[in-house]
Amino acid sequence: MSTPSLLILPGDGIGPEVMDEVTKVIDWYGAKRDLPFDVSTDLVGGCAYDKHGTPLHDDTMAKAQEVDAVLLGAVGGPKYDDLDFSVKPERGLLRLRKEMDLFANLRPAQCFDALADFSSLKREVVAGLDIMIVRELTSGIYFGEPRGIFEENGERVGINTQRYTTSEIDRVARAAFELARRRSGKVCSMEKANVMESGILWREVVTKVHAESYADVELSHMYADAGAMQLCRNPKQFDVIVTDNLFGDILSDAAAMLTGSLGMLPSASLGAPMANGRPKALYEPVHGSAPDIAGQGKANPIACILSFAMALRYSFDQGDEATRLESAVEAVLAGGARTPDLMGPEGGTPLTTAQMGDAIIKALDASL
Ligand code: NAI
Ligand code: MG
Repeated sequence: MSTPSLLILPGDGIGPEVMDEVTKVIDWYGAKRDLPFDVSTDLVGGCAYDKHGTPLHDDTMAKAQEVDAVLLGAVGGPKYDDLDFSVKPERGLLRLRKEMDLFANLRPAQCFDALADFSSLKREVVAGLDIMIVRELTSGIYFGEPRGIFEENGERVGINTQRYTTSEIDRVARAAFELARRRSGKVCSMEKANVMESGILWREVVTKVHAESYADVELSHMYADAGAMQLCRNPKQFDVIVTDNLFGDILSDAAAMLTGSLGMLPSASLGAPMANGRPKALYEPVHGSAPDIAGQGKANPIACILSFAMALRYSFDQGDEATRLESAVEAVLAGGARTPDLMGPEGGTPLTTAQMGDAIIKALDASL
């Protein structure tokens, strides 16, 4: 096998700061695990706009299509707030997702024991939580036509359209079932088939894909509103949840907060398999560019580091190494290491971004 290729797009604000720590981890795998990556780095977001007048240069887009995986920091910041919509930093990210056709957004919600008291829920409800929300990312109400604000009978009407085709549901369902096979073998599909035709079709297609190809996986269905309640009441009943773009946006944010800080949350967006069998893939922390703390060494690099762990697992078939990295993070937290966002009322001295990265490298060394 040739050396796997990785395109790194640090972006704006704390993006480059947290990515520096990921780079240490990537270098560690090359040096200590004989797992080198062919890394190239480029611009996305506001910094790309500053240099090229566009938040994503065509050359960068082309490169993203060729590599085995893209790892992105964060984009945006107040400096770019007044830019025209068409060149806003976020447009760079949206272009990547759209042109790479990344239809399955994987959002894990995992609660490290050491941080269980950070959750707004009781420790026993969230400690040990490890669920995965698979959100359809390229269709549904955010894209459906007709859309817009129109005049009708003398007043204005805002319109969006929820629209799903069988093939769009089919492919994201398969992604969820494949994941479940590598986890605890359970999928819960969420829609509102009680009030939405697109939900009826969603349930039909998921049921069919399951019966035809994934009968070994346990499938259940839930209305998305009931699912929201169950996520708060007893989140550990779930393993993989698959849902549409809108419900997935909301449910994944809610699930994320079960686990505490935004600085801890990774994500992956996967598309169709490439010629080499690997899925098109973009990995990024859930958080943004955090302008309020940028440049101060206060950013928590764990979300971005855990995004690289997801890349190891889902793009590079290195599940054991992904687990090693996640365990290193867990060990560091269990040892009391905290960036400022993870400081509880008991206080203490927080680590800087770089110190947290170094602590994780030390834990990786200790794992050998
Ligand atoms: P944000 O996620 O950047 O920050 C929200 C709050 O969480 C802030 O108080 C921030 O300091 C804190 N925070 C975020 N990440 C952290 C980390 N790793 N460690 C410690 N604390 C962390 O969201 P916000 O403030 O709404 O947006 C700021 C900018 O980021 C905006 O320009 C927005 O458009 C952009 N953004 C970009 C995203 C992306 O690149 N995927 C996603 C969300 C927002
Ligand atoms: Mg959201």
